[in-house]
Amino acid sequence: MPEQFPKAQIDLEDLSIHEGAPVLLRSALAGLAVGELLEVRADSPELADALASWCRKEGHRYLGSAGTDSHRIERGVGPAPVVALGSAIAETADPRWGLAPRGGRIEQGGPSFAFTLCQKREVWAEELASIYKQAVANQWSATRDIPWDKLLTLPREVESAVSQIMTFLTENEFAALYVPARFIPRIHPHFREVVEVLAVQVVDEARHAAAFIRRAEAGGIGLGTTAVSGQLSLQTLLEEPDFTTATFLLCVMGEGTFLTLLKFLEEHAPDPVTAILAKLAHRDEARHVAFGMEHLRYVLEREPERRSSLAAAVERRSRMLASVSGLSSYVHDALVVFAGRGVSPQNVRAGARRVFALHREMDNARRERLESLGFDSIQATSLSAYHTKNLM
Ligand SMILES: [Fe+2]
Ligand SMILES: [Fe+2]
Repeated sequence: MPEQFPKAQIDLEDLSIHEGAPVLLRSALAGLAVGELLEVRADSPELADALASWCRKEGHRYLGSAGTDSHRIERGVGPAPVVALGSAIAETADPRWGLAPRGGRIEQGGPSFAFTLCQKREVWAEELASIYKQAVANQWSATRDIPWDKLLTLPREVESAVSQIMTFLTENEFAALYVPARFIPRIHPHFREVVEVLAVQVVDEARHAAAFIRRAEAGGIGLGTTAVSGQLSLQTLLEEPDFTTATFLLCVMGEGTFLTLLKFLEEHAPDPVTAILAKLAHRDEARHVAFGMEHLRYVLEREPERRSSLAAAVERRSRMLASVSGLSSYVHDALVVFAGRGVSPQNVRAGARRVFALHREMDNARRERLESLGFDSIQATSLSAYHTKNLM
């Protein structure tokens, strides 16, 4: 057999195995094919034994020394073969890819993870990169960006209405935080862009809840009342097991409705702090709705028949909430006093008109969104009417 010449050579000088020589050895061997030789030069004659045992452990073959300062190693298969994952987004992610980032390399033989959302069509949306970029750029701070010193002393009834509305918003923020949070650990990290967008969404909702609680407390009244009707409605949202259906109910129907509500709160706010809170929350919610719409578009383009299961989910939820006659009187009355700026009959008449118009506007916006997802106008009208009276 002709003598094989080393394909590569390294010089360890006086570096021993326990001082880090394996770093250089592994790096040099990684560049060789199985069966090719590496020549290792070293000053220390004691290296032979240590090198031989290291080679056994790492799956290479130590071929002995030529003189005292030169050793030869034949590249073996190594302890575990490594494969490239590729950077293209796969339709189906292998649970054995685990937490390895897409585009990297992975040692084979690792554990299989229990992610249940492993199909691209179950989670994906267009525009994820731009939604995430905007989300990161538009993070605000409830401490730094809200002019708390501009808080006005309002008539007690109006301040109390603000507190009740802040309480209602906070319940809904919690729901909007928990829904994406419970899906994140089920989504295969191969679809990391979806996880990133949902993770910032969770952070946004935590900030909204904290800011709304702070506003309720800052006026000296404290938090208001949480109604059974609101809890029942949000519970059905939290318990929806399917990601696309939950995204439809939360981001398209619920947060979509809240966009109209937040605009209304900004417009009729009795103080600049409440107005700016509503404005900043609206900006974040617009992104959450954008994600929901993009995800639904992606799914419905591929599975148009899912429209009927989404419609069924809205109707099912409405049946479960049959005992909930409408928005709780705590919230309704607070919105009337808020929008009318007081409790005189004139104030209440003006406020009630505005709240009536608000409901009509919410309905219009929901129908428009549903139609832009390909529901016909009859379906859109009936689905919007079925949407929970609790708004989220
Ligand atoms: Fe929110
Ligand atoms: Fe949201």
